[in-house]
Amino acid sequence: MKVTPAQRNVILLGAPGAGKGTQAERIVADFGLPHISTGEMLRAAVANGTEMGREAQKYMESGALVPDEVVIGVVRERLAEPDALAGFLLDGFPRTIPQAEQLDAMLAGAGRAVTHVVLIDVPADELVQRLAGRRSCAGCGKLYNVTFDPPKTEGVCDVCGGQLTQRADDNEETVRNRLAVYEEQTAPLIGYYTERGVLESAFGGGKLPDEVYAQVERILSD
Ligand code: AP5
Repeated sequence: MKVTPAQRNVILLGAPGAGKGTQAERIVADFGLPHISTGEMLRAAVANGTEMGREAQKYMESGALVPDEVVIGVVRERLAEPDALAGFLLDGFPRTIPQAEQLDAMLAGAGRAVTHVVLIDVPADELVQRLAGRRSCAGCGKLYNVTFDPPKTEGVCDVCGGQLTQRADDNEETVRNRLAVYEEQTAPLIGYYTERGVLESAFGGGKLPDEVYAQVERILSD
């Protein structure tokens, strides 16, 4: 389904492995919003060996959050680009209350506000299983899961034939830390956005990506 334009300033909220990236692919296709993933932007900076990437890598390897001022600067620049002026889909940002406050201030300065926060809610034991099985295509970025959504040929992307790789931070120890960091620093955003009346939840536990998307699509169509 293609949806006609309306200003949608959307945040996808959820623990590591909740399916934010998976749902983002579908939202982008239907709603035409630019997908702004801070995790992807930081991984690109690491791969390119920039100064910011070298700084971020130290935090990402352990599953800690990259300092607020670094990530806020990256998002501020990205939101000023022309394609983000008519709406956006933020994935992985904000992750702390100060990040959320800074985002509100940035948008208010332009007469805008967050319109939808979609919380993807998945039980913790399922998150661990998903992250252990996640693979992504080095060529086109398509996501797979060796347990839940395997490619037709092991290790090879169905779409472009690229090689499937595993993320450096999807090892057991880092995953445990990422989940703890989410509970401590990011979960408080649920209260923050509930108070502002913009948060709705999609339940993702034990559901296929398309079943989760049916809920997400309904939320974003309001
Ligand atoms: P980031 O890249 O944002 O990672 P994350 O939040 O940990 O989220 P993930 O990408 O791991 O999971 P996802 O929810 O997108 O799930 P996915 O769709 O891939 O951040 C990485 C790091 O960067 C952070 O740890 C931090 O250091 C830093 N960072 C980023 N943003 C920051 C910020 N704002 N501030 C500070 N630091 C920041 O799905 C996972 C797997 O499950 C896949 O294999 C998928 O195929 C499968 N799957 C998806 N949906 C389903 C389903 N319904 N059923 C079964 N399997 C499913």
